[in-house]
Amino acid sequence: MCGIVGFTGINRASDILINGLQSLEYRGYDSAGIALVQDDKTQVIKTTGKVEDLRNKVAATADTYGTCGIGHTRWATHGGVTEVNAHPHQTPKVTLVHNGIIENYKEIAAELAKKGYTPVSETDTEIAALLIDSLYNGDPFEAMKKADEILEGAYGFCIMFQDRPGKIYCMRNASPLVVAHTPIGSYIGSDVIALIPYSKDYFVVPEQHIVVLEKGSVSLYTMDHEKVEPKMLHVDWDTTAAKKGGYDYFMQKEIYDQPEAVKNTLAPRIHDGKVDFSADKISDDLFKDVNRVIITACGTAMHSGLVGRSIIESLIRIPVTVEIASEFRYMNPIMDEHTLVIVITQSGETADSLAALRLANERGAKTISIVNVKGSSIARESDYVLYTHAGPEIAVASTKAFTVQCCGMYLITLKLAEVMGILSDKEISEYIDKFIAATETIPAVLEMDDYIKTIAEKIKDTYSAFYIGRGLDYAFACEGSLKLKEISYVNSEAFNAGELKHGTISLVTEGVPIIAVATQDHIFSKTLANVEEVKARGAHVILITDEDAAGYEGLYDDLIKVPKTDDFFGGFGTTVAMQLLAYHTTVYRGYNVDQPRNLAKSVTVE
Ligand code: AGP
Repeated sequence: MCGIVGFTGINRASDILINGLQSLEYRGYDSAGIALVQDDKTQVIKTTGKVEDLRNKVAATADTYGTCGIGHTRWATHGGVTEVNAHPHQTPKVTLVHNGIIENYKEIAAELAKKGYTPVSETDTEIAALLIDSLYNGDPFEAMKKADEILEGAYGFCIMFQDRPGKIYCMRNASPLVVAHTPIGSYIGSDVIALIPYSKDYFVVPEQHIVVLEKGSVSLYTMDHEKVEPKMLHVDWDTTAAKKGGYDYFMQKEIYDQPEAVKNTLAPRIHDGKVDFSADKISDDLFKDVNRVIITACGTAMHSGLVGRSIIESLIRIPVTVEIASEFRYMNPIMDEHTLVIVITQSGETADSLAALRLANERGAKTISIVNVKGSSIARESDYVLYTHAGPEIAVASTKAFTVQCCGMYLITLKLAEVMGILSDKEISEYIDKFIAATETIPAVLEMDDYIKTIAEKIKDTYSAFYIGRGLDYAFACEGSLKLKEISYVNSEAFNAGELKHGTISLVTEGVPIIAVATQDHIFSKTLANVEEVKARGAHVILITDEDAAGYEGLYDDLIKVPKTDDFFGGFGTTVAMQLLAYHTTVYRGYNVDQPRNLAKSVTVE
């Protein structure tokens, strides 16, 4: 949610900042801006629209030669999408960019007003800038520490003090910041994607810490100005992984990345027919004495939690609840040391998921997170972390991250089965064979791309659509539906197949697409009975199944027959088919697949 960058060094900053913002555009894309320092003059250039608009505006501006600067791409929270509300915000003493939300900005604004400070924008960020300005008496550390004591909410700031040209001061509370240093200069950004063109070695700024970027160095400090050594990390993918690589959209590329992402996630954890978490340093003790599992996450990640619930309950026979992270904290959830809390997240920075994890930790539950981004807050604050190895996911609509999150859920389930003695070694080995076989059907579904495109063309003009399925299929249907709605703006919902007739079937009229997911042998005919009900009301039925649909021809208009897999692992092929359907429908409707309106990839505000 909002992307920030900073650079100070020997090269021209504007190019580095704008390229960095472009790579962070998935975090927000309603306006963008940079501030450049040359000698002791600070020049701010900002605009509504995309980073490309900012690039054009900078190109048309004279004297943008500064070698120190900060930049921002915005996802509006406080105040509309206007140039005035765009960052950087400037006061006489400071220029800053911010990622996060200042919750008590109204109270602070009221106090500042008494001292004669008047904001020009509607943003919480400008209030923070004015606050730091009011606290600055020549010592940046003192001003930042005092500001930190007053500010409530989430923030990552990059601040340039007017009387300290060439230096960028950054501080972090919740909103992520990563830093790299090379002989060319020092770089900071909200995500390592902004840094990898320059360095694969970086560190994550710990919460409640300050970083000072100078041309020749970066220094990390506590809020009390004590210098600390940063913990360096290394990116294990290269810049090509964060590029479209010949595909039209990142989403399309990421759909096609899935076989590789799955292989990278599974290979290090499967040895000799067993799930092996030793390289992840996940102790078997975590899975002992567990009598209850709570899975908490948001959006797509929550849907992989629904998959987790279905498979853990059916195999392990302990109760599992899936809690939407934004609700979890306010429900006074029941947890103790026998509760295993699993937090699932691609970014590792989703504010609601982080808050849910913190509550679980506070209440003494055992915690493990399934995370894609290395060193992220949720990874660092969980007892254990199972990293998915999807590589960078740039499209706002999550695809490969979902598939590997499901892999993570299967790995954990099979580990629980081993540690709790539910399955014998031989049975586990058989499950693993079926698991791998199921994931290996993904390329065959990718080959159906052109065929699925023809189906998308038929539904492209619809206003609404419904996804139905039972049991495990329902979990995957939820994700299929979210994919379609978030990027194509088709009003789409997922339902348990048997539930439609209790109300929603009144919305099914002639031609409304019903995407029916049916991979579970034991309930196949039940789901098909529900398909019959909607077909009778004129629905356009798209049946996605790995079962033999012979004899049901009259019930569907289009059939997506994915390769047969074991029912327990039944969702990999259907997921890819639904991703492709959403993708092509959106392309037909003429929308920007990667940057759907109102959304941002990483939701770091509650
Ligand atoms: C789905 O396509 C979205 N990108 C969204 O629902 C996402 O899954 C959610 O915001 C959670 O993000 P996280 O995995 O980074 O925590």
